[in-house]
Amino acid sequence: MSPVKKRSARRAGTGSRAGKAAQGMATRAVHAGEPRNADSGSLTVPIYQSATFSSRTTREMIAISQGRQEGNFYTRYGNTTTRAVERKLAALDEAGDALLFSSGMAAITTSLLAMLRAGDHVVSSDAIYGNAQSFLLEVLPRFGVEVSFGDPSDPDRFMALARANTRLVYAESPVNPTLRVLDLLRLGRMAARRKLPFLVDATFSSPVNQQSLKFGATLAIHSATKYLGGHADLIAGAVCGSRPLIARIRNMRKTLGCVADPHQAWLLARGMRTLTVRVRRQNEVGMEVARWLERRPGVLSVLYPGLKSHPQHVLAKKQLKGYGGMVTFEVRGGVKGASRVADRLKLVRLAPSLGGVESIVSQPPLTSHLYVSAEARRKAGIRDGMLRLSCGIEDPADLIADLDQALRGRK
Ligand SMILES: Cc1ncc(COP(=O)(O)O)c(C=O)c1O
Repeated sequence: MSPVKKRSARRAGTGSRAGKAAQGMATRAVHAGEPRNADSGSLTVPIYQSATFSSRTTREMIAISQGRQEGNFYTRYGNTTTRAVERKLAALDEAGDALLFSSGMAAITTSLLAMLRAGDHVVSSDAIYGNAQSFLLEVLPRFGVEVSFGDPSDPDRFMALARANTRLVYAESPVNPTLRVLDLLRLGRMAARRKLPFLVDATFSSPVNQQSLKFGATLAIHSATKYLGGHADLIAGAVCGSRPLIARIRNMRKTLGCVADPHQAWLLARGMRTLTVRVRRQNEVGMEVARWLERRPGVLSVLYPGLKSHPQHVLAKKQLKGYGGMVTFEVRGGVKGASRVADRLKLVRLAPSLGGVESIVSQPPLTSHLYVSAEARRKAGIRDGMLRLSCGIEDPADLIADLDQALRGRK
């Protein structure tokens, strides 16, 4: 980074990122944040199931509560279990620091509220998670924040939406459910040139497949409910970024109160230890299923960044370490035709969410995009006959057999 870029990055909050990680991603997923030489000898971080903590002196208590001294004060401010997971998250995204929340939506809303005030303007991608879009579209304007939506696939037109009072740029990549891949490096550079923080929801990739901060994001956002947790048994969210920016968001989290509880944090730490193994396997399963679907008569189209037919395959190759477990495909018969296939699946479960060890299917026009107009769906490339498959870690042959019988229409 040139000194000029470094300066503007610092102003945009992108500075003070940890240097190159000394250990590999898999090693960090297992060991980062875990206690070393704890009094108990505990190999994994214990659950500190306590709402409050005592201090030795009043002076120490104040220093801890104000964040000037390490330690616990009150679990809404922080907790040893939660902090351990935050350290693991920061290590995975190679960020200066990270914060854990009670949900992915809490991570998104708290970060935006920490960074914005009345009179500000936001440039946002029009292809983002539905509830994040509602927050930008319906909630922020009530507090005097204006938002312009555009398509970041055309970075020049998208960034041209910025005004003098624009304070941040918000996007999601890969995009749900089309698995469109945005050119993060280019968008990040354009945002930094305008001294604007660039927030990227990287839920679909996890840090294993996409290290958003390395590709120009100021803040990497994750619904930890998905790949990070990986077992469909918890709701949590996370943001990773520079220390000063995370400190600002931590302050807002303390005020809004949307912290992950210690048990939830512990479950997440447990899931994250196997993150690399799961996601790398899901990359393999996703690729095998996508290749099979592409050849299967009766399947009209397949969207998977690892396929040569994917519109951003070349970009995906540069930006992603793996193409993920999400595969979107289109069948005949519109919404009803897709519902018939979904209803016939036996091994693959019909459910919202994604990223777990079990494969699940959902129908975007009836779930994530139910309240989006037909015109907006068409513009976003979402067809009526689409099904979104989140591949788990099962044997691909079994998933393929299940998909095959569902597509053939046998009961
Ligand atoms: C891309 C994306 N971001 C954010 C969220 C919100 O996460 P959570 O459900 O953990 O609040 C979701 C949930 O599906 C999502 O898919």
